[in-house]
Amino acid sequence: MEKQRLDKIIASTGRWSRREAKELIRQGRVLVDGVPARSAEEKAEPESSEISVNGEALRYRRYTWVMLNKPAGYLSATEDGRGRTVLDLLPQDLRRQGLFPVGRLDKDTEGLLLLTNEGGLAHDLLSPRRHVDKVYYARVSGRLTEVDCAAFDAGLRLPDGLVCLPAGLEILSAGEESEAHVTLREGKFHQVKRMLAHLGKPVLYLERVRMGPLALDGALPRGAFRFLTENELEELRRFDNPTKNIKSSPKTQ
Ligand code: URA
Repeated sequence: MEKQRLDKIIASTGRWSRREAKELIRQGRVLVDGVPARSAEEKAEPESSEISVNGEALRYRRYTWVMLNKPAGYLSATEDGRGRTVLDLLPQDLRRQGLFPVGRLDKDTEGLLLLTNEGGLAHDLLSPRRHVDKVYYARVSGRLTEVDCAAFDAGLRLPDGLVCLPAGLEILSAGEESEAHVTLREGKFHQVKRMLAHLGKPVLYLERVRMGPLALDGALPRGAFRFLTENELEELRRFDNPTKNIKSSPKTQ
């Protein structure tokens, strides 16, 4: 791997900004292969050099993955001349790393949105062939019934021609307004809203609560983000390649 500036390598972990990394180096708290680094401009090979900060070995991450609790009012885009995008919710250091949202949530939809600069895995997670489940909490106008659940289960055909894959509808409460968890294995434009509107139960509020193996972190305030943990990343990668989940079993005679 190509050598990179030390402050860049340290900031790539997401724990420190470039400015903080420079300060740590200035204070002599960064060692490269056991030798105190002298300047932020010093270059090192991120994967093979042994870099430590405050005595703790640094785990270099080639790619950045963050979980954002998206608030309403932000577009799932990297830039938009007209409005705020989810990138505006991230600090400058992260924006510079070329992050993009993994799929889209509507401007008024809230909840779990992953952002990364790892194109390959992001693309795989979005591929319809991967069937990555996305779970939404929906509040709708009107009473949801078992008939609606059966229609979701059978796969809806919308008047505009969209044929939906079988989807899950789990009713949480039913009344003049109802609440449900909707599980989709695909992600067509406004899909949850279109499906529920077709059943005569327009969506009043929508929040994504799960994507594949990752649930929205309940401790993450709306508008805040955090880095994915090593375990979460491991789960995403395993999910991406399901064969890694298959344990070999003894052959039967
Ligand atoms: N379905 C929708 O209708 N909107 C979203 O934001 C996500 C799924």
